Amino acid sequence: MMSFPGRRKPVFAAARGSARSENESPAAGSSRLRELRPRLKGRLLFVRGFLEHPREVASIVPSSRFAEQRILKLAEVSSAQSVVELGPGTGGTTCAILRALPREGRLLSIEINPAFHAMLGQIEDPRLIAHPGSAEGLRDALVRYGLPAPQAIISGIPFSTMNRTVACGILETVAEVLAPGGRFVAYQVRDHVHRLCRQYLGPARVEMELLNIPPLRVFQWEKNGVSLRRTNAAHSFYSR
Ligand SMILES: C[S@@+](CC[C@H](N)C(=O)[O-])C[C@H]1O[C@@H](n2cnc3c(N)ncnc32)[C@H](O)[C@@H]1O
Repeated sequence: MMSFPGRRKPVFAAARGSARSENESPAAGSSRLRELRPRLKGRLLFVRGFLEHPREVASIVPSSRFAEQRILKLAEVSSAQSVVELGPGTGGTTCAILRALPREGRLLSIEINPAFHAMLGQIEDPRLIAHPGSAEGLRDALVRYGLPAPQAIISGIPFSTMNRTVACGILETVAEVLAPGGRFVAYQVRDHVHRLCRQYLGPARVEMELLNIPPLRVFQWEKNGVSLRRTNAAHSFYSR
């Protein structure tokens, strides 16, 4: 389902074949409807996911286009060869990353919610690896798919509602596996992630995105070649 060589633009399978030509105006309405369907389905699924697991999903609607653009810019996705996304949800942010990612880039998306993961499996783009499970398995997933140290890690997972030990474990792994000079970008309503991640990557650059429901803080760290706590693990996460 995921591999369609030669296709660059990420697209949900349900929307395939819906591109509009100049001469098809009578069908244009139904064509646009077909394109909207997977987005609408994603939004409904997202709301249901939130109602079932409010602490895990932590937001009733997916991130806005404005938030997506801010995240992509801070993560410098357009110049990254290897990107990881933690908590992709139903795929809105995933598609935005794929649109910005270079042709030869790879994106590993790790999602804990099985229904959301199933939706990600419908994205037709050979650069995407959709991995089911917790962000706690980040290191193992990189090894499993033979991916290099990521130049950008983007996270929407809710560190504020997560067990502190689990949250710190994930952030420590992020700091270790990130390539030297790589960016970690986390978007959150609150600043827990900033307080927790300081010990691993130092203070963050913080931007506010007001055009999102609710407004978001977007934190960016850049790894200086060595992580603050585990200097020997900075260059090779395979060494542990
Ligand atoms: C706030 S939503 C972000 C969704 C999407 N990226 C967006 O911005 O619209 C948080 C997502 O993180 C996922 N999540 C929560 N804890 C997780 C974990 N430990 N590992 C992986 N995904 C997790 C949730 O299922 C949800 O899809």
